[in-house]
This record gives sequence, structure tokens and C-alpha cells, in this order.
Amino acid sequence: MLTNIIKNNNLKKCFRQVKNYSTIIKPERDSKYATINNQDINYFQNILDKHSVLTDPSDVEGFNQDWMKKYKGTSSLVLKPKTTEQVSEILKYCNNRKIAVVPQGGNTGLVGGSVPVHDEIILSLANMNKIEGFDPITGVVTCQSGTVLENIESYLSPLGYTVPIDLGAKGSCQIGGNVSTNAGGIRLLRYGGLHGNILGIEAVLADGSIIDCLSTLRKDNTGYDLKQLFIGSEGTLGVITKVSMITPPKPTSVNVGLFTCDSFDKVKTILTRAKSQLGDILSAFEFMDRPCIDVVLAHQQVQDPFDNKQPFYILIETSGFNETHDSEKLNDFLESIMNDDLIVDGSLATDTKNISAFWKLRESITESLGKEGAVYKYDLSLPMDQFYSIVEIMRNKFEGKANVVGFGHVGDGNLHLNISTPKKPYQKEIFDMIEPFVYEYTSSHRGSISAEHGIGSMKPNHLHYSKSSNSIHLMKSIKNTMDPNNILNPYKVLPN
Ligand code: FAD
Ligand code: MLT
Ligand code: ZN
Repeated sequence: MLTNIIKNNNLKKCFRQVKNYSTIIKPERDSKYATINNQDINYFQNILDKHSVLTDPSDVEGFNQDWMKKYKGTSSLVLKPKTTEQVSEILKYCNNRKIAVVPQGGNTGLVGGSVPVHDEIILSLANMNKIEGFDPITGVVTCQSGTVLENIESYLSPLGYTVPIDLGAKGSCQIGGNVSTNAGGIRLLRYGGLHGNILGIEAVLADGSIIDCLSTLRKDNTGYDLKQLFIGSEGTLGVITKVSMITPPKPTSVNVGLFTCDSFDKVKTILTRAKSQLGDILSAFEFMDRPCIDVVLAHQQVQDPFDNKQPFYILIETSGFNETHDSEKLNDFLESIMNDDLIVDGSLATDTKNISAFWKLRESITESLGKEGAVYKYDLSLPMDQFYSIVEIMRNKFEGKANVVGFGHVGDGNLHLNISTPKKPYQKEIFDMIEPFVYEYTSSHRGSISAEHGIGSMKPNHLHYSKSSNSIHLMKSIKNTMDPNNILNPYKVLPN
């Protein structure tokens, strides 16, 4: 048994399941945009059915507010089209009238991209939720962009396939939102990012023209790969209406190990060994520091996994198709990290219930932090040598003032640095202690100020820390070509 080979004094086999927004500065409303009137609403009611045009403030309210309750708009209109043609009609009209539009998926974005900054109308993709086809030979699935990620997984699972992207928000986020943010998540290490897994996109441009790049081909070198432009463009270049995606066969043998470490250097060594010794069966390598565990324990029904607290916790997942082969590899790996005293404690889960319990500890960090108060989130790519130092620097800076935690997809070099204070609203004093320092630190080490969450309305003015001025200039010309009236998600991604 794999679990038996772990030598440590405090081993447990699994967890026992026990027991406003104010100082966010907004850019001025651009007066070139029209304000919605009754004629506009009548027009939209003619293209959509009346249930798909929301104007009652109590119906619109939830669409104006983001998941973190950090960003809030003042839109008075939500449109919920069901077809690509309806999206096209809406955008053509808005473009002619110069009405600004924010596309919205599951509204789980963490950088204020999915809600209006001012009174932009909200184009919700929630009713475009059909899975249109699946080819069992190629493993390519095609669906409308409003399909909830978890629903794609539930559709594929009985067919023996899985989605190549997974994240904590899977129950609400939509594939169109994932593609628009180029979301990373916990499987990127294994399957790569969406730029590789998305084979085709259908999108509607600001003037209503439909761009059909909905290929299901693995190979297609016919000029510029236009679909790539929409991946990660956060609703600023077009509204994604359909996607086709490669789906890999669903692994039949899955193991998850949770380990503790007494130094970050050891976390790095374990990562290197996991890559070389587990190779193709390594499917996730996540880390969280002890303050993360404390926050989760304070807000979730989970128990401390080990009696002995350590500064670092690592979650390693393997997935493959041959239990014996996977177990052998995992045993060799575990023996090697134990023999070299790289871990203090460890525990393995091989059945669904315990695997979920381990993942719950990792995936509920975001929700648990949200219950603490105001959360200042920074999503960074950093070289391994500078990866955790920024957490320690910020912890020293904030001693007694705020809780500083570090977690994330260490296997991809992606740190989530989160600073939480017990009280909302967000405070300028706290922002000033973080920014621009964190961005300067990241830039000086050639990291990225957004590893996977995007730029949204949070970071347009900080884009220059990760993109050269020539690159920003080119991005602006692309935007200008595709959306000359700038009606799609204004005030987001690009600086003025
Ligand atoms: P929304 O939040 O609705 O929108 C995000 C952006 O995409 C906005 O700019 C919006 O305008 C645009 N958009 C949405 N749909 C479309 C469309 N059809 N066409 C054009 N533009 C569109 N992110 C990660 O990368 N990795 C993680 O591990 C991760 N974990 C998370 C865990 C939790 C608990 C939460 C709350 C969030 C997490 N996120 C993560 C962030 C978020 O879930 C992702 O960014 C997700 O991809 C957003 O999808 P959504 O459908 O909610 O999009
Ligand atoms: C995660 O990895 O859990 C997400 O990106 C969410 C977050 O950063 O809070
Ligand atoms: Zn993440």
C-alpha cells in the first residue's frame, strides 16, 4: 500500500470531514457613449424575448457586482441572447448607437473585467449554454460559450473524456469566460494552456460581423491564427459565442498526496523531483503556506490534516491509466523525498472521497479568504528563486496590520499573493503599501503581473510592468481595428 511507506510520526490517512467597494478609483465615464433610452429597450425586446431583457433593478443588481464584491457598476440593462445571430444584432445596434457593452460569463473573474465600470449594458452569455457536439475519435467537443465548465465535465465524464482545464470556480464559470481570460487553473501543468487546447472559436465583432474560426482541426496553418487573438482578450476584441476544444481521455487511476515541508527550498526540490520522477503522470503540483491552512480551517468544515504544523503544504496529484505502473512510480518518488528528509508529514488519498477532501483544502482558500474581509489579490508569475520571498517581504511590511498568505500553482511558477484585512471597504492606505511595490518587484525579476487572472479594470495602468511600450502600442492598434468605436468592455485591459 502506498500509504504504508510514508514514514512520519504524525501521519493521518486522510482528512476527517468534521465538523464596498469605496477606494477603487474609476476612470471618468467617457461622454462619447450613449445612455440607454426606451427606444433602445424596445429594440432589444424585439430581437430577444422579454425574459431575456432585464431592466428591473433587483434583477440587474447581481450582474453589476463582481464575485469579490470589490467592483461595482451602475448598468440598468442586462441582455441574455440565446443565439450567435442575436449577439450579432445586439452588437451591430450598439455599435451604431455607441452604446458600451460588457460581456459577462459566470462573473467569477477576479480583476473586475466582467462587470461594468459605469453604465455599460451587460451582455450575459448564460443562456448560450448548449453542448453542440463531441467527436469520440478526435476527442473534440464543441459548445456555446455560456456553457458552465462543470457541465462540460459532467457531459464528457461518462464518455471517458475530461476537460483539460479545471479551477475552483468550475461550478459557475463558463467556457467562454475561461477562454476570454485564458484561465490557467490546476491542470495546466498536465495539459498545457488554452492557447493549445482551444481548436476553434466563433466570435462576434463590435460591428456585428460573425467571425467563424470554429475549426475542429489539430493542424491548420492557413495564415494568421485569428482565434488566438480572442484567447485572453477579456471581452475587448469580440464576444465569443462558440468554442471547440481538445479533450483528453479521462484518467482512470488518480492519486493525491498532501505533504508538509519546513522550507520553501525543499518545496522547490520536491517540484524538480516530481517532474523528473513522476513525468507524464504528474497532473498537479500546488502549494499553500500555513496561514492559508489557518484561514481555511476558520471558515470550512475540514480538519487540520496533520498534528504538526509546518510552514508549507504541497498537494501533488498523479493521474494515469495503469494503477500498478502509477503506484510504482509514486512509491519511488515518495521513497526518494522521504529518504532525503524533504517532507515532514505526508498522506495519500486514492479514493474519490478523500481525494476531494484534499482538494477542498486547496480549492476553498479563495472563498475562505473572502469571508475574512477585504482581500487584495495579486496573481504573479515569478522565477522560482524569487517566488516566495515576496510573500515574506509583504508579511514583514504588514505585521499586525493584515494577513499575508501565499498559495498557487507552483508547478507553473504562478504565485497567488493575497493580503486580507478584516474590514471592508478597500483602503487606500493598504493599496499604497502594496502598489506599485509588488509590480516593481515582479517586473524587476522579469515576472508577470498577471499569470492567469487577466488585467480587467484592476491593472490597465500597470500593464507596462509586463509589456513593452511597443507591445502596448500594437495591442492598441489591434483593438482599434477590431473595435474602432471602443464599445467592447471599455476602461479594461488597455491603458488610456
Ligand atoms: P467572467 O468573470 O464573467 O468574465 C471574465 C472576463 O471575460 C471579463 O472580462 C468578461 O468581459 C470576459 N468574458 C466572459 N465571457 C465572455 C465571452 N463569451 N466573450 C467575450 N468575453 C467574455 N482563474 C484562473 O485562471 N485559475 C484559477 O485557478 C482560478 N480559480 C478561481 C477560483 C475561484 C473560487 C474564483 C472565484 C475564481 C477563480 N479564477 C481562476 C478566476 C475566474 O474563475 C476565471 O478567470 C474564469 O475563467 C472566469 O470565467 P467566467 O465565466 O466567470 O468569466
Ligand atoms: C486559485 O488558484 O485558487 C485561483 O486562481 C483563485 C485565487 O487566486 O484566489
Ligand atoms: Zn489560480
